[in-house]
Amino acid sequence: MNAANEHIRVTQEGAVRTLAFQRVEKKNAFTLAMYEALASALAAADADPTVHVVVLAGQEGIFTAGNDLQDFVAHPPTGQDSAVFRFLSQLTGLEKPVLAAVDGPAVGIGTTMLLHCDAVYASERARFSLPFVNLALCPEGASSFLMPRLMGLQRASELLMFGEPFDAVAARDAGLVSRVTPPGELMPLVAERARTLAEKPLASLVLTKRLLREPLRGAVKEAFAREGAAFVERLASPEAKEAFQAFFERRKPNFSRRG
Ligand code: COA
Repeated sequence: MNAANEHIRVTQEGAVRTLAFQRVEKKNAFTLAMYEALASALAAADADPTVHVVVLAGQEGIFTAGNDLQDFVAHPPTGQDSAVFRFLSQLTGLEKPVLAAVDGPAVGIGTTMLLHCDAVYASERARFSLPFVNLALCPEGASSFLMPRLMGLQRASELLMFGEPFDAVAARDAGLVSRVTPPGELMPLVAERARTLAEKPLASLVLTKRLLREPLRGAVKEAFAREGAAFVERLASPEAKEAFQAFFERRKPNFSRRG
């Protein structure tokens, strides 16, 4: 199967379509072009009758470093029609089941996108983080709505405010991850889970997903809009500029310094 983009590898085995992020030299950080490619690949998978299940995966030892901070500065999202929001909206609206395989860091949207997947499998070396406040940003991906619902308000607040990485067992305890495996067993488990699901009647799977997700759709959409507007505003702040600069200079940000 052709790659949708040089950094998004699309493959299919039986009725399982896998979209794998592959930009390992930048820890699979997402550029605008990658979001575009992912949104199109998701839409194509949903429309293709030969696909029953979608798998989102990174590479060995890395899921994704989240937004490419350089690309984000060069092409900041401006609103709901921006590529990142199109990707999120396509993912949350997907009719078919989506599984995720997380091996290594899953930063920012790398963690929030999992809230829109139907099952998440993680290896023991998976590391989740929501560093939005540390980057002078704010929650995205409807995480401010879905996380409290999943794990309770205080646990969600702690993860979103401190922005400290947490491991696969903590993610499983919080309800974000379904199963934790040794690294070498992750992809075989995900392949087996995807195959098992793909053999079930697709109409029932789609209906089950719709029944589970439909009551949330309106609120998720509102959260996207609320968070999106605040995120775009924060992105232009002097604190965010300083945080991004600090990341590239490999130092701690100094938030008392402006501009
Ligand atoms: N945006 C742009 N470039 C990124 C990136 C990102 N989000 N994450 C990593 N990279 C780049 C690094 O700048 C580095 O590039 P270089 O080799 O040209 O210097 C390369 O990818 C490798 O990253 P490095 O930090 O050296 O790898 P690591 O294994 O030590 O750490 C991470 C991996 C994912 C934990 C770390 O890179 C990280 O925290 N990234 C930032 C995540 C982030 O803040 N995302 C935004 C959320 S909104």
